Formats: sequence, structure tokens, C-alpha cells
Amino acid sequence: MSVTTKDAVIASGPSRLSLFWMSTVGKKVLMALSGIILFAYVVAHMLGNMQLYLGIELINGYARLLHLNQGFLWSARIVLLVAVGVHAIAGIELWINKREARPIPYRSKENIQATTASRTMILTGVIIAAFIVYHVLDLTVGVAHAGPYVHLEAAGNLITGFSHPLPVVLYIVAMIALGFHLWHGVYSMFGSLGLSHPRYTVGVKRLAALAATLIALGNISFPVAVLTGLVHG
Ligand code: HEM
Repeated sequence: MSVTTKDAVIASGPSRLSLFWMSTVGKKVLMALSGIILFAYVVAHMLGNMQLYLGIELINGYARLLHLNQGFLWSARIVLLVAVGVHAIAGIELWINKREARPIPYRSKENIQATTASRTMILTGVIIAAFIVYHVLDLTVGVAHAGPYVHLEAAGNLITGFSHPLPVVLYIVAMIALGFHLWHGVYSMFGSLGLSHPRYTVGVKRLAALAATLIALGNISFPVAVLTGLVHG
């Protein structure tokens, strides 16, 4: 009897990677690793945008530099897209599995102690995903921009966009959601990577709260600075 490739694949069973992905521990590790990539991007992006306070030409030059190097730009975009995909799919699957395992939530100490941030991870995740789509259409593609959009004029686009209250409100709401998401996400990342220890729990919780607050406030400062006239064209 002849053995086809399909038979061989079926006989050899799922690969190590798919077994890892199918396990709860594997999904948590992949969520933590993709979360580190996304966290690093958010920090680097915010620091890059801080150039808005140093001079309009500086941030325009930075945006042009990124676009000049198309190879780097597209490599970064692909890494980010894969990280967002892995993070979102693993997160949704873990959430579904948890709900199926315990359809009626605990009314015990565990639930009382859960923070608002940890209970709203799916909601804040969905808000961040929607924000990313809106944000790219607003400042990279320009079709959702509130004012006149000029390609590669990052500072001008920020100023024309944030001179309107609606985008400012949308950005602030999204950044508050991002802050809550990072607060629990950074803390739980340590546990998922096996780096948690009762001795450091309080310190790690404080570090996560500090990082989340700084990122949320740093990002909120941009639309507020423009709307209040602190930064202008
Ligand atoms: C108020 C806060 C923020 C400001 C002022 C801001 C500013 C900008 C600007 C000016 C661009 C266009 C760059 C260009 O194409 O020339 C951009 C692109 C982008 N931003 Fe933000 N950003 C903010 C927050 C965020 C956050 C929190 C995330 C992620 C969660 C994010 C993700 C992105 C992505 C994915 C792009 C598209 C990059 C590409 O061209 O592929 N941004 N942002």
C-alpha cells in the first residue's frame, strides 16, 4: 500500500509549534512575547512623537526619515502586524476557554480582588484595535483626518487634526483604554513568562502602574497641547 504525503502528515500528528499554540501556557507565553514587541513599539513611538515639543521641523524630518527607508518601514510594519495578530487571537481564545471552563463567574475573594484593568482586558483590547485602524486612516493614509491632510507633514497633520475636539476626545478615550490595558498586561506578562515571585509582586504591580500611567499621560499630552494652543503651526 502506498503512503501519500497527506497520510504521513496525519500519522506524524500536530507539530510542536501547534501543540505549543494549543496549550494554555503556550498561548500565554506567545501573548507575553508579542506584548513585549508591542510595548516596545508604543514606548519608541511616544518618544519619537515627543519631538513635537522640540520643534516642528524635527518631527517632520523624523517622519520623512522613516519613510525614506522603505525596507525598514515595511519590515517593522510586518513584525507589528504579526505581533498584533498573535496577541489578539491568543487573547480571545484564552478568554473564550476561561468562560467555557467557568460559565458562572466566581463570587469569591479572587473576583473581588481582580482589578478593573484585569476584568476589562478584552474591552480595552477591542478599543485599542479600533483606535489603531482609525489612527492609521487618520495620520498615515489621511482619509479619516479632520483637517487637510499633507503626506509626510507629521507635525502639520497633528496640528490640523488635534485642532478639532472630536479627534482629541477619541484619542484621549483610546489612550485611557491603552493605560488600563498596559497596567494589567505588563503585570501579567511577568507571570506568563514565569518571572513572578511573591517577594516582587508589589514592586512589579507598581512598575506596571507607573509605566501604564506615563504612557497614557505622555500620549494624551499631544492632543491636549495642540488643542490648548501650547503647540501650534
Ligand atoms: C496621541 C498619541 C499618538 C500620536 C500623536 C501619534 C502620532 C502618529 C503619527 C504622526 C503617525 C504617522 C507617521 C507617518 O506616517 O508619517 C503615526 C502612525 C502610527 N501610529 Fe501613532 N501616534 C500616537 C499613538 C499611537 C499608539 C498608542 C499606537 C499603538 C497602539 C500607535 C500606532 C501607530 C501606527 C501602527 C502607525 C502607522 C505606522 C506606519 O506608517 O506603518 N500610535 N502615529
